[in-house]
Amino acid sequence: MIPRHLLEKYNQSLPRYTSYPPANYFTTDMDSETFRNLLVESNTHEPSNISLYVHIPFCHKICFYCGCNSVKYPKRDSVGDYIAALLKEIKMVRELLDPSRKVSQLHYGGGTPNAIPVEYIEQINKLIFESFTFIDEPEIAIECHPAHLTEEYMERLVKSGFNRFSLGIQDFDLKVLKTANREPSKLPLDVITNFLRSLDPNIKINFDFIYGLPHQTVESFTETIKQALPYSPDRIVTFSYAHVPWFKKHQMALEKAGLPDADSKLKIFESAFKVLIENGYSDIGMDHYAKGDDELILALKNNELHRNFQGYCTRRTTGQVYAFGVSSISQLHDSYIQNTKNISEYVATINEGNFPVEKGYKMNFSEIVVREVINHLMCNRFMTWNDIAGRLAISVEQLKETVNFDASKLEPLVSDDLLEVKDEGVVITALGRFFIRNIAVAFDPAMSAPTDKKFSKSI
Ligand SMILES: C[S@@+](CC[C@H](N)C(=O)[O-])C[C@H]1O[C@@H](n2cnc3c(N)ncnc32)[C@H](O)[C@@H]1O
Ligand code: SF4
Repeated sequence: MIPRHLLEKYNQSLPRYTSYPPANYFTTDMDSETFRNLLVESNTHEPSNISLYVHIPFCHKICFYCGCNSVKYPKRDSVGDYIAALLKEIKMVRELLDPSRKVSQLHYGGGTPNAIPVEYIEQINKLIFESFTFIDEPEIAIECHPAHLTEEYMERLVKSGFNRFSLGIQDFDLKVLKTANREPSKLPLDVITNFLRSLDPNIKINFDFIYGLPHQTVESFTETIKQALPYSPDRIVTFSYAHVPWFKKHQMALEKAGLPDADSKLKIFESAFKVLIENGYSDIGMDHYAKGDDELILALKNNELHRNFQGYCTRRTTGQVYAFGVSSISQLHDSYIQNTKNISEYVATINEGNFPVEKGYKMNFSEIVVREVINHLMCNRFMTWNDIAGRLAISVEQLKETVNFDASKLEPLVSDDLLEVKDEGVVITALGRFFIRNIAVAFDPAMSAPTDKKFSKSI
């Protein structure tokens, strides 16, 4: 399906562009006072919607592939101190936001949000629902490790407002899970999915998988994906394993166990892709699949698919992101602000009445322009100069100049049938969507010269 010579040519270390600029461009010249001012300023910026993110870093076991900001569940119960600080942080941010602004998304990630007693989640949601107003049909989502879900826990999560559950399945093959130091689901998966749907038939369920791990083969991972189908998840994500051992030392254990090479990884991806498409799913962005009348599919059709730190979303649901908890990243109109990753420092700083900012990035206008082009292309697979220039209130000439547009520079992508260049804009081909990071790089002036930044491989 994907010509192998392209694999050799395009499997490079590249940004994933889940943000622009990528998080390894953040600098330390961002502090509590600057963040306070940016929060106030954000009330005057678009989008006026608010996306809230709550980070719960704790996990009972650390999976060897994990690239997230996760820590082993503490023996001493310092979790209570963490939650108290988090509640305080929400109040500190809330005071600075215009009360007429509405929340469109609330997302809990981690770590493992459902590793902590459910009372804590109820307390956080209670505060958020009392302090903010919401749009109609907001997305209230939580990432859950199925090994720690009980019926009581799920029932209380649904009662406290969640309408989307992302279940981290990763793989059904026990050998793969064991090598990755990952516990399987405790309850049978049909008990979990049926129970959630019995509580509320409108609840949406996502399954997360990851491919590129030791012992995974085309046959084994295809079987895993086939096993998922009868549960009819609304969305499926197949994350390509990002191997960054210089940043996450525990990943070395997987190198020792033997990682599949790029060709095997691509074959696994192709096979999973085929099964999902044949079974009624549509591919969204790089690694997501959705079925039926999912709003991401409709947004893709209407050229309105978008992405922020909460993941794929639509122009209706996206907002400026206000993030709470260690390591979490707020994403305002023209700036990123990341909290410290150190839990004691986080708690102490908040208790002193300051924001626990560690680093961040203030974008200039050119970077906002590049972000718009890359984000739009990666989500919607085409872009017209007029559309983007209109949205940014600049001329088409200014837009082309800012992204260093030069049709001859794109020629290799065109001759490899990844991209079509037209007068009105560019279109990513059916083949090109598998090389979306390579295409994005061509519109990123920061990557036109060699960089000392390290990135995971694109395949
Ligand atoms: C915070 S976890 C989800 C919640 C919960 N901790 C769990 O593992 O089920 C977010 C997702 O990131 C993905 N992930 C973690 N490390 C990754 C890596 N190195 N490369 C690609 N995806 C990764 C996993 O598939 C995981 O489901
Ligand atoms: S994948 Fe999930 S459970 Fe495993 S260590 Fe990472 S955040 Fe924790």
